[in-house]
Order: sequence, then structure tokens, then C-alpha cells
Amino acid sequence: MKKLNTFFLDVTVGILDFIYRGRDYQRFWVLEEIARAPYFAFLSVLHLRESLGLRGPEHIYLMKEHFAQTVNETEHLEYMESRGGNAYWIDRFFARHLVLAYYWINVVYYWLAPRSAYHLSYEIEIHAATTYAKYLGLNEHDDKILEILNDELNHARELHSAMEMI
Ligand SMILES: [Fe+2]
Ligand SMILES: [Fe+2]
Repeated sequence: MKKLNTFFLDVTVGILDFIYRGRDYQRFWVLEEIARAPYFAFLSVLHLRESLGLRGPEHIYLMKEHFAQTVNETEHLEYMESRGGNAYWIDRFFARHLVLAYYWINVVYYWLAPRSAYHLSYEIEIHAATTYAKYLGLNEHDDKILEILNDELNHARELHSAMEMI
């Protein structure tokens, strides 16, 4: 599954890099729009598990973590919007269709194989942190982008812990 996750990520990143070359904030906005979906999906599945009486010992911890991550990703999204990341209809159209599909993929994936679903999001968070690091390397220093980069690294660490926990 890990190889499949890496393959899926590499193909998606390749397509996004091609479409969004030279349009950093549009690319970041699309990435942040998509990045929220797994956390909503994890919460949805955890709610469903709770309703079915399948609440495990790590349930409340995971609910709190994933809720905090959704809020944090929405803060990132709002920042990218403040920099014009969602200014064009075509980017909004593209991202909002992609995110719907990606949400449902994550619901099914997390229900069937939660560790693998966490691994996919872990890889995506590492990719996000690398993307922001590259941007900082090529542009003027930006405290907010550095803060977001560190948030993505924290999300990756939290996902890694969650992976070990379940
Ligand atoms: Fe983010
Ligand atoms: Fe993140």
C-alpha cells in the first residue's frame, strides 16, 4: 500500500506541478483546499465508528487531533485566499471537484485501511512542507509561509504518531 500511496502522490504532484508552474499562490491554495479533506474524512469515519459502538481507546485523542488539523488547514487556506490564490474561477472549479473526490476516497480508505490512509496523508504533509521550503529558498523571507511550513511538519509528526497508535 505504501508503494501505491507514493505512486499516487508522485503522479498527482507531477500533474499539479505542470499545471501550476509559475503560479505559486494558486498552487498553494489548491494544495491547501485538498489538504483539508483527509482530516474531515477521518473525523467522519470516527463519528460513524462511534455511532456503531466501535470506539477504541484512542478515539477521543484522534478526534481532537483531526479537528485541530482541519481548523489549522482552513487557516492556511484563508491565508492563501488573502494572497489571491483563489482569484480565478478555473482554479476554484478544479480544486472543488478534486476535493470532493478526494474526500470520499479518504472516507473509504480510512474505513478499510486506516494505517495506509494515515501514511498517504503523512506523505502529502511532507510534500507540502518541502514545497514551502523550496518557495522560501527561491523567494524573499516570509514569516507566514515559514509558520505554515512548520504546521505541515507538525501534521506529519501527528499522523506518524497516529499511525503507530492504531
Ligand atoms: Fe496546510
Ligand atoms: Fe497540513
